[in-house]
Amino acid sequence: MTDSTAPHRQDGPDWWRQAAVYQIYPRSFADADGDGLGDIAGAASRMSYLSELGVDAVWLSPFYPSALADGGYDVADYRNVDPRLGTLDDFDAMVAEAHRFSIKVIVDIVPNHTSDDHEWFQAALRAGPGSPERERYVFRQGKGQDGELPPTDWQSMFGGPAWSRLPDGWWYLHLFAPEQPDLNWDHPDVHADFKKTLRFWSDRGVDGFRIDVANALTKDLTEPLRDVGGISIEEQMATVEDGQHPFLDRDEVHEIYREWREVFNEYDPPRVGVAEAWVKKERLVRYASPEGLGQAFNFDYLKTGWSAPELRSVIDVSLRTARAAGASATWVLSNHDVIRHASRFALAEDADPEAWLLSGGTQPVADRERGLRRARAATMLELALPGSAYMYQGEELGLPEAAELAEGDLQDPVWERSSHTRKGRDGCRVPLPWTREGESFGFGGTPWLPQPSYFGELSVEAQEGDETSTLELYREALRLRHKLVGTDESLEWIGSQETEEAGVLHFVRPDGWHCVTNFSSETKPLPAGEVLLSSGPLGDEGLPGETTVWLRDGAEG
Ligand code: NOJ
Repeated sequence: MTDSTAPHRQDGPDWWRQAAVYQIYPRSFADADGDGLGDIAGAASRMSYLSELGVDAVWLSPFYPSALADGGYDVADYRNVDPRLGTLDDFDAMVAEAHRFSIKVIVDIVPNHTSDDHEWFQAALRAGPGSPERERYVFRQGKGQDGELPPTDWQSMFGGPAWSRLPDGWWYLHLFAPEQPDLNWDHPDVHADFKKTLRFWSDRGVDGFRIDVANALTKDLTEPLRDVGGISIEEQMATVEDGQHPFLDRDEVHEIYREWREVFNEYDPPRVGVAEAWVKKERLVRYASPEGLGQAFNFDYLKTGWSAPELRSVIDVSLRTARAAGASATWVLSNHDVIRHASRFALAEDADPEAWLLSGGTQPVADRERGLRRARAATMLELALPGSAYMYQGEELGLPEAAELAEGDLQDPVWERSSHTRKGRDGCRVPLPWTREGESFGFGGTPWLPQPSYFGELSVEAQEGDETSTLELYREALRLRHKLVGTDESLEWIGSQETEEAGVLHFVRPDGWHCVTNFSSETKPLPAGEVLLSSGPLGDEGLPGETTVWLRDGAEG
């Protein structure tokens, strides 16, 4: 049995600053009752695996009651567990098990929208136009002679208008699927209810919260509502910057997070928050402020291609931004919304360069081996950076995007709402393979998304003990990281612009911990120093292409 006191993990109020956080997508992680849907007891049963992997915390994507119109991000009841995934008792047992291994637990909070099954929305439908029940959402009359046109030109993130019309002729707002009506954050009930939810989970021992679409909660609902020129929400997210957009990144959203900070600080240690906010870098600081959520996801590494100079500039800007906020930096290479990085780093020439989000398996992958080689190098670089690394389940197995899913198997609303032009995110959500053989490769039951036949070779069982495997690389990298990471969040670059242009990034952390990545495909000189770990075989010639090495001391010059 693994040592449950895990001395390497940080305690105290700053535990999150350089944590390695593992994202569990509960329905695809481990299925204890064999119904083909991952569950809370399944997650609990794998805490020893996660402890051995060396993670400091888990973040669970939503496990709340939900009709699964958007993979659980359509929440019908914020203070309960989906009966298909377990009970509140199972949840408590899972938290206890995680804490037994000194693993912290972060849960997902979805405050921009509820499910249309939520009791508030159902009450709003019943109560009819003009009722106080409808005030908790955004209901409007349409334009056109008979109100047959949506109230504004706002587009949904999943494609199509952000408004749907009810049989009574009124329209309601949903920035995502129609089954995800947007809440009205001008309403006091909404504020009160989310504070209740934060306390509910904090009282059950949850250590922190990941805040979904943290940049869209507040809207300018003064009449007449403003059009935005019909451009897609993705384009707007990339350009909005003055805090005055009708529904994205508005300045007053931070008043909500100041209220939540007060709730977080009622606990010892204070609960932590991390914002999912797709906003311009300069504005991310506000979400990460210690008076607000405290940390924000930085998706820039994830959006950067395989390029040393581009990544260098992303790292510099990200560290500067985090420092300005008083937060630590965050790094993400994969999550449940994007093409897995083992596939993303090897997209074919004709792939859409903007395809990292939502398009998933529609993009052609050129070379799986190369993708994995680069992914391993990118991960080692990520794990050497100051700040928190957010990893996504299955990346430790080097899983590729499951591009083989048949159209009939797709569940992501993106597929229908994009008129079958974007396959969506199911390819990164396929249940994990635990064993080499057997039904669902040890996941349990007939999986809700079919696993490709090669998943068995990538299973935990197949990789365990094989020191060339990706699983053992992650284990060793995380073990070393715990030894090497101190409280100092600094980094110093070694080498010049020329070395970057030649495809090499080299930096050193305090105590002589060097990280060198060769982005090119040619072998480059290996700096001096004791080799601690490398993402691929080193050979005698130097540092092979598409490889990262960690070295200790003596590497200068
Ligand atoms: C971001 C989540 O990560 C994504 O999966 C979800 O579809 C949207 N927010 C809407 O909740």
